[in-house]
Amino acid sequence: MKQPRETFSTRFGIITAVTGSVIGLGNIWKFPYLLGQHGGSAFLIVYILFIVVLGLPVMLAELAIGRMGHSNAVHSFHNIAPDTRWKVVGALGVLAAFIILSFYTTVAGWTLEYMVNSFTIGSDGSPLSDPSAFFNEFIKNPVRPVLWQLLFVAITGAIVIWGVKRGIEKASKVLMPLLLLLIVVLCARVLTLPKGLEGLFFLCKPDFSKINAVTCLYAMGHAFFSLSLGLGVMITYGSYIGKSERINRIAGHVVLSDTIFSVLSALLILGAAFAFGVQPDAGPSLVFVTLPNTFNSMPGGAFFSLLFFLLLAIAALTSTISLLEVVVAYAQERFRITRRNATLVACLGSLVLGIPSTLSFGGLKGVRLLGRNLFEFFDVISSNIMLPLGALLVVIFVGWLQSSKNLKAEITNSYTLKARYFPALHFVLRYITPGLILIILISGILAL
Ligand code: TRP
Repeated sequence: MKQPRETFSTRFGIITAVTGSVIGLGNIWKFPYLLGQHGGSAFLIVYILFIVVLGLPVMLAELAIGRMGHSNAVHSFHNIAPDTRWKVVGALGVLAAFIILSFYTTVAGWTLEYMVNSFTIGSDGSPLSDPSAFFNEFIKNPVRPVLWQLLFVAITGAIVIWGVKRGIEKASKVLMPLLLLLIVVLCARVLTLPKGLEGLFFLCKPDFSKINAVTCLYAMGHAFFSLSLGLGVMITYGSYIGKSERINRIAGHVVLSDTIFSVLSALLILGAAFAFGVQPDAGPSLVFVTLPNTFNSMPGGAFFSLLFFLLLAIAALTSTISLLEVVVAYAQERFRITRRNATLVACLGSLVLGIPSTLSFGGLKGVRLLGRNLFEFFDVISSNIMLPLGALLVVIFVGWLQSSKNLKAEITNSYTLKARYFPALHFVLRYITPGLILIILISGILAL
């Protein structure tokens, strides 16, 4: 029983689904703390450079592979290059999707706990009246974070199960405009606090002494993480894009939106940190400690806290949807099972690593790999090693193994669109992108 493959039904649907995937915890939770830890705007400058020379070409390459191969992350390679081993790249991606889902749903679960607790802000005995103590106790708890994680995975599954049009596209069309509204309201509120603009000044004072091989590795890893590249999300989503759409424009819009969203989030979170007089170098706890501190001392704090954690939860949800979809699309087509069963298996599978990752702040704290707990280990290994490696293989595949004619035909919709930039793109894709990834990957790993 072979059903025709689904495609997104409208251009708005494509853009919201793809931006939904890229905009996530990476922008709001991870980017600001990486900035705070790695030299502020010096990191921002390196990051933006990588977005242009690494992110954009890889985004286009993945979308092209997906639309050309017209299948999931693994099978698209097979359709384009049958009887080769390139499928392995897709398989690596499916594995990376599981790993990212594991720690991603841990943090996504935390956002739900914080949403619920937001209601009490400002009242006597609110659990969030001492955010630092609350955070440290909460993440150690063996039950609550796991329950929230289960709920989050269940919500993701409940959307993915409905498929591309009725599940992913429909949810993204509602959630993404809401996300935009929330970030604008919150930015306006925080930036007008006394000292709220100090975040902006911090971003204007680059500290280049903090840039070294490890910083570059983090900036590159984060560029891929934030743009959802290197594990086949864009291959999978690309396969749902109709032949008449312009994938070059989609790539451009998405990369630009993601970067703008990251900068807005950085202004929001750094602004909140400075308004309260704390340095933004706290690491992963930054948004969970600093922000509630700010909300506690702000009129209407409960309301803005609720909006903020809702923002985080929604951003996370449209991203976990895309991660789960990589696995579901593969499982469904590879094992010829129904979408329902594929979703169930993928959700349960994601918890095999996900629950230990959540518990790695409490009961499993003693399990350490490379000097890190499981959560941090999964994060570092996937973002800084697996994604760059996946992206490297993708550009080698597209730049060296495919004829430039094939690529140009895909990007220009069979030569019906002009692409004067193509020779430059092809040059970057063939030489600059793989060379740079390789250098940073090797020097970064050696210095890690
Ligand atoms: N880009 C998302 C974020 O910034 C996370 C994400 C979704 C992701 N899908 C991905 C990261 C695929 C890497 C690969 O939060």
